Amino acid sequence: MFQYPTLSRPFIWAHRGSSALLPENSLAAFHRAIRDGADGIECDLQLTRDKEVVILHDETLERTTQAQGLVSEWLWAELQSVPLKGDPTLRVPRLADLLAMAAPPTALNLEIKDPSPLLVDRVLEMVRDYGLGDRVLLSSFHHPQLHYALAQDPDIAVAALYSARLLDPAAVARSVPCSILHMDREYTPAEDLLKLRACHIHTGIYGIHSYSHYERARRNGATAVFLDDPLWAVQ
Ligand code: G3P
Ligand code: MG
Repeated sequence: MFQYPTLSRPFIWAHRGSSALLPENSLAAFHRAIRDGADGIECDLQLTRDKEVVILHDETLERTTQAQGLVSEWLWAELQSVPLKGDPTLRVPRLADLLAMAAPPTALNLEIKDPSPLLVDRVLEMVRDYGLGDRVLLSSFHHPQLHYALAQDPDIAVAALYSARLLDPAAVARSVPCSILHMDREYTPAEDLLKLRACHIHTGIYGIHSYSHYERARRNGATAVFLDDPLWAVQ
């Protein structure tokens, strides 16, 4: 099971790969993140019409690719030749492409975007086939997806995502149940991180868009951060 290591700095997830430098969620952005020393890669997962697991943030294609419409209405055979915006030589990757390239010790935070349990089934199957259980952390804003993943495989590590100022974040962790929460910088004051640490809950901060955001999260004792450029952590 994946566990955050004990470090003297936050664990660095490359958010959608090195997405400040290269098209987000592309294999090029993932390669760059590994080269630049990220501890792990975060990426977003969707399902095509024929149930291929693909790496794409939005449920629609227009923001990041040169095609349009819902990814769930495209067949993989059609989608695989669609260029990404920003670099027409790049394509939407499949999860299988990332799993094949990310050698140890790079960790993988696979964010389940689609609410269908079938996506969880497919991801767990691939994590098993590639023998990646120790390096994979599943996360989702859809907490029933995490609950379902744990029911299928109690040894998979999961993190609950949220984007709000909550009265009791620890209660969210207990409800899954999990001991890792990933939360939006905008809604996370230092006192929440302190309280969660006292409850032995690990914290990962996303929505970090500059070096100063990173520095504040580090000072406040976040376990992990999501950086659009991992090099911010080595300045
Ligand atoms: O997993 C952290 C972060 O990626 C969650 O937000 O919208 O960037 O997927 P989003
Ligand atoms: Mg994400």
